[in-house]
Amino acid sequence: MNKGLFITFEGIDGCGKTTQLNMLNKYLQDKGYETVLTKEPGGKGLGEKIRNILLNYDGEVSDRCESFLFLADRAQNIDLIVNPAIRQGKIVLCDRHTDSTLAYQGYGRELDLAQIKKLNDLATNGRKPDITFIFDVSLETSSKRVGKDKDRMEKSGKDFFQRVRNGYLKIAQNEPQRVKVINSEKSIDEVFAQVLKYINEII
Ligand code: TMP
Repeated sequence: MNKGLFITFEGIDGCGKTTQLNMLNKYLQDKGYETVLTKEPGGKGLGEKIRNILLNYDGEVSDRCESFLFLADRAQNIDLIVNPAIRQGKIVLCDRHTDSTLAYQGYGRELDLAQIKKLNDLATNGRKPDITFIFDVSLETSSKRVGKDKDRMEKSGKDFFQRVRNGYLKIAQNEPQRVKVINSEKSIDEVFAQVLKYINEII
C-alpha cells in the first residue's frame, strides 16, 4: 500500500488553486494513485452547512465567530475525511486548510497570530500537510477573476486582501520546506508545470 499524502492548495480568491487541484487529481489518477478531494470550508455534510453560513450569511459576523466556524469545519474535515483517507494510503488534495485561517483571520482580520496557530493545532489534532502550494497572484488579477458576484468573504475589500496576500508570502518564508509559492499569473499549463516539479519529487 502507498503511504498517504496530504497536499493543500492555498491563495487569495481567484488565484486558480481549484483548477490546479483538479489537474493534479487527474494526473495522479492517471498514474494509478488513489486520491480523495476535499475542501475547507465544506468538504461534505455538516461542512457544507458551515460553508453556506460563512459565505452567505448576510448579518453581522464577529471576526472571532468567523474563525471558530472555519476551525469547526476543519476539525470535521480532518476527522471524517482527511485522516481516514490517509490511513488507507490515499493522496488527499485539500482546497484550503490551516494557512487560510492564518492568512485571512490572522493577517487579514488582524487577530492574534499565535492564538490562531494554537487553534489550528487544536482543529487538526496534529495532522500537517506534507506539501502546501500557495498560488500567488496580484490583487488586480484576483479581482478580475472573482468578478462582480462576490460572496461574504470576497466583499472584504482591497486592504484586507493585500494583508492576506502578504500574510501568505510570510507563511511561505517561515516554512520554506513545506510551503511552495507558485507564480499563478502565468498560463494554466505553466502553473501546472511548476506544481508537477514539486510533486514528482515526493511521489
Ligand atoms: P473558496 O471558494 O476558495 O473555498 O473560499 C472560501 C473562502 O473562505 C475564501 O474567501 C477564503 C475563506 N477562508 C477563510 O477566511 N479562512 C479559512 O480558514 C478558510 C478555510 C477559508
